[in-house]
Amino acid sequence: MFDRIIEFIRSIYAGKDYIPLHEPRFDQKEKEYVNAAIDSTFVSYVGEYVNRFEDMVCDITGSNFAVATVNGTSALHTALLIVGVQPGDEVISQPCSFVATANAISYCGARPLFLDVNKDTLGLDPEALEYFFTRYCSVRGQTCYNNQTGRRIAACVPMHTFGHPCRIDSLAKICKRYQVPLIEDAAESLGSFYKKQHTGTFGVFGVFSFNGNKTVTCGGGGILVTNDEKLAKAAKHLTTTAKVSHAYEYIHDAIGYNYRLPNINAALACAQLEKLEYFIKKKRELAETYAEFFDAEGIPFIREPKHALSNYWLNAIILPDRKTRNSFLEASNRAGVMTRPVWKLLNKLEIYKDCQIGLLQNAEWLEDRVVNIPSSVVV
Ligand SMILES: Cc1ncc(COP(=O)(O)O)c(C=O)c1O
Repeated sequence: MFDRIIEFIRSIYAGKDYIPLHEPRFDQKEKEYVNAAIDSTFVSYVGEYVNRFEDMVCDITGSNFAVATVNGTSALHTALLIVGVQPGDEVISQPCSFVATANAISYCGARPLFLDVNKDTLGLDPEALEYFFTRYCSVRGQTCYNNQTGRRIAACVPMHTFGHPCRIDSLAKICKRYQVPLIEDAAESLGSFYKKQHTGTFGVFGVFSFNGNKTVTCGGGGILVTNDEKLAKAAKHLTTTAKVSHAYEYIHDAIGYNYRLPNINAALACAQLEKLEYFIKKKRELAETYAEFFDAEGIPFIREPKHALSNYWLNAIILPDRKTRNSFLEASNRAGVMTRPVWKLLNKLEIYKDCQIGLLQNAEWLEDRVVNIPSSVVV
């Protein structure tokens, strides 16, 4: 069975010795825009491309405001700070995610609290969230408290895993009822929609990553989106060292961050964003090709959830158990076809092992079985 899968993947990426999980695709446009940024001498935080990048992301997502940052992690950190996450608070998230989701919470001095995911979306399960709130929390005034720890639940950060939207409308409704600000970790889901609404636009903030492994990249980069002008201004201020606008004086009215995306990276981002639609078309075609093959093999292939339109950032299959998963990972990587298991659950990392968790049945089940397979755009 493994040989047939490896052979099939090799046939898709014919001519390549080593097949990575996800590689970027550049052409003349990227060179043209990066050269233009160099020629303009505006290579740092000020420049035409940073603003253009923000406008383009507003257009794509339907958000009113966007603030570009050096990466997705800093965008998450900023969003959490702006909604008021403070040391000693707790922030609900999912154990099935890249470590940056939990790290951004820790940067605020808060503790992540991990609840289960749905098996079909791999994202935070609304039922697990509702259960946790009703069983363990109470709202006093405008604030939600965890009755077990006495701590404030300061935010909820679900994630759209591999680009597949989670049940974000239900999560948004529940969070609203419990007065908990919703921040979407949409790092992986640029171009993905839930019920025709772009991911990242259901809560107070949505955050995207433009890391080299993402659907579109600018080397390193991130952006946060919001419909609230005041919050957008606060985010821009905090990410630009909290410098007060002045012709020549250095006045900083808070301890801000040097998180603004350089114009030279934004130039790359603009060129890439022009191809987002094309990339997603190709990625969806690839997913269909995989789906047909794995259907015939009797191996579950993770498809976009109901009501969702996914960018299929990373394709994934579900193997029968951990042993089979490990054997496949061994065989495929040995054969030069890069595959990877879904992340080790965050609550199992030494750094997060003491965090509160809900029942994590689905997350545990997925951790044993899910494997990502090569997903680069094929032209
Ligand atoms: C789910 C998730 N959250 C956050 C990030 C952080 O983004 P970045 O690497 O741009 O800091 C990433 C990707 O890298 C991610 O996959």
